[in-house]
Amino acid sequence: MKLMQIYIVCTELLLSACLSGVLAKKEDEPISEDKEVLVLTESNLNQALKQHSQLLVHFYAPLSGESLGSILEFAKAASELKETKSSVKLGKIDVSKEKDLAKFLNVTTVPSLRLYLSGDKYNPVQCPVLRSSTAILTWLERREGPSAVLITDLSQLDSLIAEDELVVLGLFKDVETGLVKIFYDVAADIADLPFCVTGSKQIFSKYDIFDDSVVLLRKSKMAEKFEMTSKTVKDDVIHFIRVHEMPLVTEYNGKTSSKILNSMVQSHLVLFIDKAEKGFKQTYRAFKSTAKDYRGKVLFVLIDTGEPRNGRILEYFRVRKEESPLVRMVNLTDNLQYQLPSDQLDIQTITDFCQRYLQGNAKPKLQSEPIPDGWDKQPVKELVGINFERVAFNENKNVLVLFYASWSSENRELFPLFEELAKHYSDTEDVVVARIDVTANDVNIRMIDRYPTIKLFPAVYAERVVPYSGQAKLEPIIEFVNGERARAKEDKAKEEIERKKYLDAQKAATKEEL
Ligand SMILES: *[C@@H]1O[C@H](CO)[C@@H](O)[C@H](O)[C@H]1NC(C)=O
Ligand SMILES: *[C@@H]1O[C@H](CO)[C@@H](O)[C@H](O)[C@H]1NC(C)=O
Repeated sequence: MKLMQIYIVCTELLLSACLSGVLAKKEDEPISEDKEVLVLTESNLNQALKQHSQLLVHFYAPLSGESLGSILEFAKAASELKETKSSVKLGKIDVSKEKDLAKFLNVTTVPSLRLYLSGDKYNPVQCPVLRSSTAILTWLERREGPSAVLITDLSQLDSLIAEDELVVLGLFKDVETGLVKIFYDVAADIADLPFCVTGSKQIFSKYDIFDDSVVLLRKSKMAEKFEMTSKTVKDDVIHFIRVHEMPLVTEYNGKTSSKILNSMVQSHLVLFIDKAEKGFKQTYRAFKSTAKDYRGKVLFVLIDTGEPRNGRILEYFRVRKEESPLVRMVNLTDNLQYQLPSDQLDIQTITDFCQRYLQGNAKPKLQSEPIPDGWDKQPVKELVGINFERVAFNENKNVLVLFYASWSSENRELFPLFEELAKHYSDTEDVVVARIDVTANDVNIRMIDRYPTIKLFPAVYAERVVPYSGQAKLEPIIEFVNGERARAKEDKAKEEIERKKYLDAQKAATKEEL
C-alpha cells in the first residue's frame, strides 16, 4: 500500500471512531451475512475493509430485474469461494437503502462490481459486469495472474481447445514482455471466454501466422485474426473479440439472449422465421451472406417463430408467427424499429435495407402513420393507427375492414374488390368500407391471422369483432355483411334496453341521495 493511502485509511478510521464513539464495540460484532455474502452498510463498511484485504462488493437495487439475476450468481460465487478457502470476501450493498453510502462511494450504475484492495475505499478495481458465478471466479483468478493459459506445443493446444466453442489464442514471439502484456490485460477483463497464449513455432505455422496476433478459434478452427502492432491498445483487442465472438448469425435462445442484449453493436437485424418452413434454408443463406459485410456495425439475429418458448419475445416485437419470414432492424439505443418493406428476402434486398438504415434513410416503423388528407372522402376509407378505433368501434356503423400488408402484391389484389364493396354500400348509411396497412400501423386488437384479413366491426355498443372467413368475392362478402348487420340491429336494441334500465337505476339512486 502506498503511504498516502495508508494515511487516508488511518484518518478515515480515526474520524469515524470519533464520530460514532462506539466503533470499538461495533467492530467486535461479526458483520451479518446473507448466504456467505457480507451485508454491508454505512456503519460496517470500514470494519469489513479492515478485515478483508480483498473485498469484492456487489452494488445492487433489489427491485431492478437486472440485479435479481446478479444477486443469485453472486451468492453462488461466494459459496464457491468459501469452499476453496479463497482470501477474497464478497459483500453487497443495497443502494436503494444505503443511498448516502452509495453516493459517497460514487456508485453510478447498478448492478456493478468493485474489488476493494487493502482497505482502500478510494481506488477500487472496477470489475466488468459479470453475469455468472463462473465468470466472477474466473475474473478473480485471472487477476492473480497469469490470465491466459500458456501453451507450449500443438498437442496441448488441441486438447485444450477441443472443449470449448470459442477460444481466444494469442500468438506472441515473446510471451513474457512487450505486446503480450496487452493480451494478458485483455484476458483479465474478458472473464467469460477462455484465453490461451503461445510462443510455439509449430502453432504459428499451423495457422500461417508470422507476426504477433490474436486469433479466435471456433470449434478448433481459426475463425478470425487480429494482428497486433506497436499502436495497438487494450480496447482495440477487446473490440475485436467482442465484435467477432458472436457467429455471423446468432440464434436467439436462453443461452444467447444476454450476449445479444449486451453486445457492443447496438443495431440488430432480426430475422423472424420458422426453421421448419420450406424456404428457410434459402432465406437463411441470404441473411448469413449479408451478415459478413456488416460485422461490427449490425448484429444479425435469428428468432425461430416455430419455437414455442419464443412466444414472449415475439410478443415484445409484436410479431405474429403468421407474418414470418420477416426482417426487422432494431436500434437498441433509441428502441426504434424498422421493417424491411419487402416479401423477398434475398441478399440484394437485405443489403439495400442495411445500407439505407445505416445512412439514416430508413423509415422507422411507427405506431401510426399520420391521418391521410381526405381519408374519408374516398369510397374505401383509409384508416391508420390513430383513427382506427374511433372509426371501427362506432356504435352506429357496421365497419368492414381490410387489414393488408402494403408490400404484398397478393394483398393489394383485394383493393378492387373493396372498391366494389364500397360502391355497393355507397348509399347505405350504416355501412363503412375501410382498409388499413398493418405494416405501418399498430392496431390494438388481437390479430391472429395471416394478411390479408377481413373483419367486420358491427354497429353495437360492445366492442365486437367478427372475422370473415369465406371467399374473397363480392357476393359472399355482401351476404356476410348483411347477416351481421341484421344481427347487430337486434343486439343493439337489446343493448338499448339494458342501458335504459341502468340509467334509470342511476337516476333513482341519485334522487335518493338528494
Ligand atoms: C468520489 O468522487 C469525488 C469527485 O471525483 C472524489 O473527490 C472522491 O474522492 C470520490 N470518492 C470515493 C470514495 O472514491
Ligand atoms: C441509433 O439511435 C441513436 C440514438 O437515437 C442514434 O444516435 C444512432 O445514430 C442510431 N443508429 C443508427 C445506425 O441509425
